[in-house]
Amino acid sequence: MRVLGIAGSLRAGSYNQALLRAAREEAPPDVAVEIWDLAEIPMYNGDVEARGDPEPVARFKAAIRAADALLIATPEYNRGLPGVLKNAIDWASRPPLAPPLAGKPVGTMGASTGQGGTAKAQAHLRDVLGFPRARVLPDVALHVADAYAKFDANGELTDDATRKAVRALLDKLRDDVAGSTGTP
Ligand code: FNR
Repeated sequence: MRVLGIAGSLRAGSYNQALLRAAREEAPPDVAVEIWDLAEIPMYNGDVEARGDPEPVARFKAAIRAADALLIATPEYNRGLPGVLKNAIDWASRPPLAPPLAGKPVGTMGASTGQGGTAKAQAHLRDVLGFPRARVLPDVALHVADAYAKFDANGELTDDATRKAVRALLDKLRDDVAGSTGTP
C-alpha cells in the first residue's frame, strides 16, 4: 500500500515533518510512506492553471492519483490550516469534476506547541477536503500537543506513547483502506 505523506509546514525543524518521518518509520511492512515536499508548489492562480499545471503541481497531482491513501500532518495556524497546505489542496481540487483528491482515503494528524494538538486545524482540514470529495477517515486522526516535549533537537519523535499512537494510526489506515478496496 502506497501512502503519500504531506506536511503543511516548510520549515526544516518542523514538528509536523518530523511526525511524518515517524509515521514512515512506524509503518507496517506492507505500507510504504512517501513524504512529499510542498516547497515548490506555487500559489494557486487560475490564469496559470489555464495555461497548464506548472510542473511541480503536475507531479504532486500525479503522486496523489498514484497513492492508495494520503496522510496529512498539519500545523495549526490561527485555529485553521496553514496557507501552504490549503494552497496545495486548492491545486489538487482541480479539475472540479475529476480532482485527484476525489475518493482518496485521507488520514490526518498534527503537532502543535499548544494544548489542542491541532484539533481545530484538523477539523478545518476535514471540512476543506469534503468539497473535492476526498474520503476523510474520521477515526484515522492523531493530535500531538506540547510538541516541544515530544521531539528532540534532531526532529526525532522521542515520546513512546506518541510513537505507539502513530503506529496504531498507520495500522488503522492500512486496515480501513484494505477493507474498502479488498487489497490484502
Ligand atoms: C502558530 N501556532 C499555533 N498553535 C496552536 O496550537 N494553535 C494556533 O492557532 C496557532 N497559531 C499559529 C499561527 C502562526 C502563524 C504560527 C507560526 C504558529 C504554533 C504552532 O503550533 C507551532 O509554531 C508549530 O511548531 C508549527 O508547526 P511546525 O512548523 O513545527 O510543523
